[in-house]
Order: sequence, then C-alpha cells, then structure tokens
Amino acid sequence: MENSFDPAHVNFVHRGTFGDQADAGAVVMEISDEDDWGFTMRTLTPVKNPEGARHVTRTNDEKTTRDITARWWMPFARASRFQYPNGLVHSIFTAATPIDDRRSMVCQFAWRNDTEADVSSADVIEFDRRVTAEDKYILETTDPDVPLAERASEISMASDRAGVLMRRKLHQLLSVHGEDEATTPPVR
Ligand SMILES: [Fe+2]
Repeated sequence: MENSFDPAHVNFVHRGTFGDQADAGAVVMEISDEDDWGFTMRTLTPVKNPEGARHVTRTNDEKTTRDITARWWMPFARASRFQYPNGLVHSIFTAATPIDDRRSMVCQFAWRNDTEADVSSADVIEFDRRVTAEDKYILETTDPDVPLAERASEISMASDRAGVLMRRKLHQLLSVHGEDEATTPPVR
C-alpha cells in the first residue's frame, strides 16, 4: 500500500514501462480528505510513453502526464484514478490481503472511460500486469517487516510523506485498540 502512494518509485521501478528516469519526481503532491480510515492523494507525474504503452495511453506522444487521484482505505485497499491530457481515464483498484508475516495476496482490477473498440480488455490487463510485475519484483526484494513507529535509523524524504502518514495512522489504529506493533528489533 505504501508503494502505491510513493511518487518517487515510479521513475525507477517502472522504468521498463512508463517511468522516466530522466525526469524524476512528481510536480504536484497534495494530501487531502484525511480521516480515520485513510486519505486522498493527488499527484501530477510526468511519464514516458514508449511504443509498448501507446495502445493503452492512446497517444503517440513520447511523453505524457498522469494526473493521479488516489484514495487509501486502511489498511490494505486503494483506488487510483489516472487521467491523461487526452481525456482518457484509467482507474485501478488494489486489495492486498496478508497471508502471513511475509506474504500478501494482491488482487487488482482496472476500468476505463473508453471502450473495447478503442483498446481491448486483454491489452489493458496485459499492460497492467507488466506494471504490477515491476512492483512485485521490488516489493519481494524489500524487507516486509516495516516499523510503524519512527526510528532514528530511518530517514524520510519529501516523497515519503504519504508513507510516513500511513505508518502513523496504522500505529494509531493499533493504539486505539490497545495494541502495539511487533517488529524485529533494529540492527545496531
Ligand atoms: Fe508501482
């Protein structure tokens, strides 16, 4: 879920599909509508638009922009709406269900404001899976034992704003129910 709200990962993790390493960083990042069960985040992100993406973005421009409005529902669901300058809206819903301490089952589906005649569902699913496979690779090589409480050994940067908020909100949720996180002690 944190990865879903990390604007900085796009340019590097998704360099094989739409991430532009030469133009890193969202130009807009706003968080709003925070409540007990999540928040909304808007980002405006320049992306590259290579051959393999053009049939789903439906533009032949070398670069385009994703205007993203994403909602996090605690703890493990999100919906992200990607709007492109040509009016295309591509939305995805993702649910991550923990199986054990190290594994989750991730289910995702997409819906759009165009038709099967414009781009086939099979092509949309194929592109979505390529993007998600890039996330899968990086997530499976990341330590799943994420500390919710702030640690001196971790330093955050501006693009981690949503992630820091997510950890704080999850920690508060545990606290409200008289619980605390259980993590592996940090290596000193
Ligand atoms: Fe991603």
